[in-house]
Formats: sequence, C-alpha cells, structure tokens
Amino acid sequence: MLSNEKIFELIRLAYEVQKCAYTPYSHWQVGAALLSKSGNVFTGCNIENAAYTPTNCAERTAFFKAISEGERLFEAIAIVGNAQGERPGEGDYCTPCGVCRQVMMEFCDPDTFQIILAKDYEKYQIVMLKDLMPMGFGPATLRK
Ligand code: THU
Repeated sequence: MLSNEKIFELIRLAYEVQKCAYTPYSHWQVGAALLSKSGNVFTGCNIENAAYTPTNCAERTAFFKAISEGERLFEAIAIVGNAQGERPGEGDYCTPCGVCRQVMMEFCDPDTFQIILAKDYEKYQIVMLKDLMPMGFGPATLRK
C-alpha cells in the first residue's frame, strides 16, 4: 500500500516534470513519476517530433530512464496530463496509451503495479495494470 505522502510526492513530481513536456504539435502535456521497488523515482515527460512517429510518451520516457539506470522492479507510476493552458482538474484523467501499457507489461506485475491517474492533488484514482490490460501479453506468457 502506498502512503498518502508517497502518492502526493509522486503527483508533485509528475507535475514538476510535465513542465518539460515538448509538445509543439499536440499541445497535450504529460508528466509521469515512476516509483521503483528500491524507492527511487524516475520522471518523464512526452517528447514530440516533427515526423510524429518518433514521439515518446511521458510514461515510456520514465521507464526507459529507469531501465537504463539498472532498475527492473517497479511499484507505481503517477500520470498527469492536460492540454497546454488548461487548468489542472478541468479535463478528464490522462490514461496511458496502448504502447505504454505494453511497456508496463514487460516490467511490472499486472496484479500489483499501481497506476495513479491524477487531475490534481485531491482528484486522483489508482488503477491496477491488470485492469488497464486485461488478458495482456507479457513475459509470463512466453515463460509458460
Ligand atoms: N501522451 C503521453 O505522453 N502519455 C499518455 O498517457 C497519452 C499520450 C502524449 C503523446 C503525445 O505527445 C501527446 O500526448 C498527444 O497524444
């Protein structure tokens, strides 16, 4: 179970890194803060590209930073996202795209990995990866 303090801290870090989002095309700005089981936090923002497909989502930026620093085990991720200029709490929750869910499947236990979707510090919901990725394909499938 994540403490309220830890949830608050992850949301705060997600908002902090959201400021770095590079979004000249969609103007949709996302921040993510990924908590490893060892207690380290890796943040990420979305990074767009004029050729569109090289765009990297905030969640994958955070995961790839963590993996490239030697982390392999993860507990939770906080995600915030809104249109540029929109006030926090106004729109819907920003849910991870399908590609990011698949990357989560690679490195996280779908039964225990917690995804914190936040609109602001008071408005958030926690969903498990298994709920966002029912019957997901992952490393466990190949091991059978
Ligand atoms: N995006 C993310 O970074 N994470 C999500 O959860 C959804 C989408 C980014 C990709 C692109 O830069 C912009 O949001 C619009 O799709």
